[in-house]
Amino acid sequence: MGSAVREFTGIHTMIRGLVHLMDTSLSKARPGNSDQMRVVAELALFAVAGTRFHHQGEDTQYWPAVIANGADAAAFDSLSAEHHELDPLLDNMDRASKSLKAEPTDSRAFEALRQDFGPYRDHVLEHLNNEEPIFFPLLDKFGSTDTSVGALTSP
Ligand SMILES: [Fe+2]
Ligand SMILES: [Fe+2]
Repeated sequence: MGSAVREFTGIHTMIRGLVHLMDTSLSKARPGNSDQMRVVAELALFAVAGTRFHHQGEDTQYWPAVIANGADAAAFDSLSAEHHELDPLLDNMDRASKSLKAEPTDSRAFEALRQDFGPYRDHVLEHLNNEEPIFFPLLDKFGSTDTSVGALTSP
């Protein structure tokens, strides 16, 4: 396994960990406990921002870089489609998280976030599982031989 694959494996592991942490938090937090609600809302906002950042990096930097080095662009079609499918789920979580942050004692805001989290969780975990067998071998074969992911797109 090359170093770029190791770095992506670590990032994916962190995303999976964050999703599981949110799952536990949402199942154990008590509506009406405003301190817990603020933490849950911040966690959800971090998950939204982190997922968007990760996907934008893949769409605009890493996938174009390995395609430029010879990878088949069509290999990424299904993964790009999954990124786009996730966008509205992220928008829903973003909206619900901001509502809960603004009104941490509103139990309906918490319930809305719980409802919106489920589809996000299922989609992102399935996407990671789908992505790794496609992207990682291409990253190994067509990624830079430099030791850091950041060097992948270097001229
Ligand atoms: Fe992805
Ligand atoms: Fe990824």
